[in-house]
Amino acid sequence: MTHGTLTIVVLGASGDLAKKKTYPAIFGLYCRNLLPKETIIYGYARSHIPLDEFRKKITSNLKGDAKMKEEFGLLLYYHSGAYDQQEAYDKFNVMLDESEAKFTNKNHNRLFYMAIPPSIFVEVAKGIKSSLISKSGWSRVIVEKPFGRDLTTSRHLIAELKLLYQEKDLYRIDHYLGKEMVQNLMILRFANAVFEPLWSKSHIQSISITFKEDIGTEGRGGYFDSFGIIRDVMQNHLMQVFSLVAMEPPVSLTAEDITNEKVKLLRCVQRPLLENLVLGQFTKSADGKHPGYLDDEGVPKDSLTPTFASQVFYVNNPRWRGIPFILKCGKALDQRKTEVRIQFKRPDNFLFSDQDCSRNELVMRIQPGEAVYLKLLTKKPGLNNEIQQAELDLSYSQRYEDLDLPDAYERLILDCIKGDHNLFVRDDELDVAWQIFTPLLEAIEQNKMVPEKYAFGSRGPTSADELSRKVGYSRSSGYVWRQSKI
Ligand code: NDP
Ligand code: BG6
Repeated sequence: MTHGTLTIVVLGASGDLAKKKTYPAIFGLYCRNLLPKETIIYGYARSHIPLDEFRKKITSNLKGDAKMKEEFGLLLYYHSGAYDQQEAYDKFNVMLDESEAKFTNKNHNRLFYMAIPPSIFVEVAKGIKSSLISKSGWSRVIVEKPFGRDLTTSRHLIAELKLLYQEKDLYRIDHYLGKEMVQNLMILRFANAVFEPLWSKSHIQSISITFKEDIGTEGRGGYFDSFGIIRDVMQNHLMQVFSLVAMEPPVSLTAEDITNEKVKLLRCVQRPLLENLVLGQFTKSADGKHPGYLDDEGVPKDSLTPTFASQVFYVNNPRWRGIPFILKCGKALDQRKTEVRIQFKRPDNFLFSDQDCSRNELVMRIQPGEAVYLKLLTKKPGLNNEIQQAELDLSYSQRYEDLDLPDAYERLILDCIKGDHNLFVRDDELDVAWQIFTPLLEAIEQNKMVPEKYAFGSRGPTSADELSRKVGYSRSSGYVWRQSKI
């Protein structure tokens, strides 16, 4: 744990992210007793909100023990001020100094969490630098995505922030890196002798990384329309998962060595082709209960912004050459699910070709309901010689009693407090990801590609399944998972 006191400043504290993710994560750390004894939490935003109202707004959204919520509420403060005026930050700093002066420990550390739109990242970063840096402890800044909208804007943002902060003080958050199963990827791959020898084009047929949400843009249409699903989810969350699945073993487990491998892998990714892309946009649900994307306030009626994308990537290195990585993400689909699905080749000289020929699959379900399961073929029990699909199943909820997994943001904020960069995004990693996606995004925009319509609550555009089939993914039929009864 960090030495000294802790002041957490949430910039954009009146917003959605702050209420839904940032404060609940800080509360989670508080409940687990992981914050220093002397901690205060300041919200900063333009809106004028009386302290009582602010505390009520934040605590009403927290889940947990009522007494803990009440105690936590008393650590919360709120200050309203402009983002673009030096005097506003100076005034705020006086308040922070006064609050910290009441602490017994005189090393005052400050963590700044930018829960603000990207258009004001740099302005706010300058304000922090000029007025709010701690004089007696460390100051660290957590930056939320999106980090730019293409290579040029991302480089500009990186350069502007570099003028103000050293890389060691900047924490670019991709909350997928804080998810339990995403962290498990490296252990599954590199700690198990049964997997590593199979992890290549010799044995693997295809790898699918899928993100599905069963909700639409829900009032975030204004933000979403200028980004689209590729920038919102694929370029960051899915690319991070892809990197961990496909990178070579790192030299060590240090952040530097792991990121070096991720960067090396991303540099081997072939330029994605439009012929291997399907875009979609959701319309209202079949029963008319859920509105379509174009009905969302703030979305232009003729918007071509995709809410669904499936793109096949190929990696030009000895391990993966020719193997499709099918990255798929979409909103307003039939279910919420994020998973990695590794489909294996059939054994050479397959002896049972008159029967079920489904391929083995290793599935790592990131959410909901963390699980790792291996689908395989076994003999159907009894007086027969039939083959049947079954699974080796590690469902966390069954395997681990009283499972209480921390939220991804909880883990990441804790790592920032500890000064651990392992689960944060490095600038060159970001740069190379944008090098992959920028030409694709430009081609989509220049060609004015029209996304295929799909109904809210459906599986998405039918062409996406055709694309997966075309590149070699073969869907097993007739598989039924029966959850064991405990
Ligand atoms: P909001 O639109 O709610 O904005 C956050 C804060 O910024 C608000 O409190 C508002 O404060 C201020 N703000 C909004 N617009 C402007 C503007 N034009 N100029 C100056 N200040 C403005 O965003 P979210 O909370 O939804 O998201 C924050 C960031 O986190 C975004 O970059 C988003 O992409 C990212 N994000 C959001 C997620 C979510 O679930 N919502 C999930 C992951 C990331 P005030 O007007 O009071 O000053
Ligand atoms: C955010 C995206 O980064 O991730 C959202 O901006 C998306 O559009 C969210 O809904 C998904 O996060 P999670 O943790 O709910 O899968």
